[in-house]
Amino acid sequence: MATRLPSAPPILPGLAYIRPLGSGGFADVFLYEQDMPRRDVAVKVLPSDVRDADLRRMFNAEADVLARLSAHPAIVTVYQAGISADGRPYIVMENCPGSLARRYRLERIPVDEVLTIGVRMAGALESAHRAGVLHRDVKPSNILITTFGAPVLADFGISSSLARETADEMLAMSIPWSAPEVVAEHTAGTVASEVWSLGATVYSLLAGHSPFERRERGQNTKEQLRRRIARSTYTDIPRSDVPASLQRVLARAMTRDPAQRFASAGEFALALQRVQVELGGSPTPVELPDTQWAAPAAVVDFADDTLRGPARSRVEHAATRKTKPQTGVAGLARDEDTAISASSAGGPRPLVVVAIVTGSMVAAAVAVVSVLVATGVL
Ligand SMILES: Nc1ncnc2c1ncn2[C@@H]1O[C@H](COP(=O)(O)OP(=O)(O)OP(=O)(O)O)[C@@H](O)[C@H]1O
Ligand SMILES: [Mg+2]
Repeated sequence: MATRLPSAPPILPGLAYIRPLGSGGFADVFLYEQDMPRRDVAVKVLPSDVRDADLRRMFNAEADVLARLSAHPAIVTVYQAGISADGRPYIVMENCPGSLARRYRLERIPVDEVLTIGVRMAGALESAHRAGVLHRDVKPSNILITTFGAPVLADFGISSSLARETADEMLAMSIPWSAPEVVAEHTAGTVASEVWSLGATVYSLLAGHSPFERRERGQNTKEQLRRRIARSTYTDIPRSDVPASLQRVLARAMTRDPAQRFASAGEFALALQRVQVELGGSPTPVELPDTQWAAPAAVVDFADDTLRGPARSRVEHAATRKTKPQTGVAGLARDEDTAISASSAGGPRPLVVVAIVTGSMVAAAVAVVSVLVATGVL
């Protein structure tokens, strides 16, 4: 739920405004009709004024990475990105008529459906990690449902990277799904913290509320949640149809010590698949990229601060332009569902690229990491 007034829809080339779709902590999403080819699209508009060259560079680089990630079947499809005439960055996406933002609070989602969603999201995250990208805001409202009823992961880092220190409402993390080490500001995000967030998301879909949220009013302030997450003791989901094996899987994903969690989102997916089989179902495939998929992300051009038109996403060899340093994220907390908000303490937050790679992705991801080290992002 947004606590600010939505912005006006920008005038965009080749797109005709239809109506608002919703607002998050710091962005607004509008339905437009695209002219060529004719189709409805969702346009996410970030309020940042990217006349600031650093922000624009970051947005350009991230849009390129996002475009590649979005080819994944469980990641929302991005068609275009650009900067409107009045200086606001926007992303043109597949219009997804549903989301899991509220559904889990309103109805008891069947266990087999939650498992399917969990495996798909874990496949999406594992793929992103292999490409060297962290999501950093895994939570139910960032799982959208496509026209075909398929759950897809949305909001990879891009919005959070454009959060600015001056705007309180531009808050990038969501405390209820943030790992203890993130809440404690020991890290801005790792594979382990994303495993935790995905575990907490699956927990929420089954339990009907986030893991450390209390039913009683007034018990879910930001500080109370932080404290409970810091203690992070897993409580079984009080549902008789959730098998003990699934409780164990979630407890492991949400272990306080990051080293004790599943080593990757892929491992978490496999554990969920085993529960699917135990329940007599067939395992949902874990969709992972072939070896070519992520490689071009290694050549993000951080020096590119040109104003680019839509659909001209290009990647070039990395340059050495500096990006702004990353700042702590625990102060960047917002929970649209429990009305928790905190002042943003950080500056622009670049898409995090991490060295978590396996097999043939090693070369590509090492290249990404070295680019970002060189550019001062890491
Ligand atoms: N591709 C899309 N198609 C249709 N609706 C969308 C799409 N992307 C986002 N929305 C809707 O727009 C609204 C705002 O989304 P947004 O991502 O800005 O906020 P959020 O996910 O609720 O919170 P946060 O700001 O933490 O990401 C939500 O109701 C969401 O369901
Ligand atoms: Mg979102």
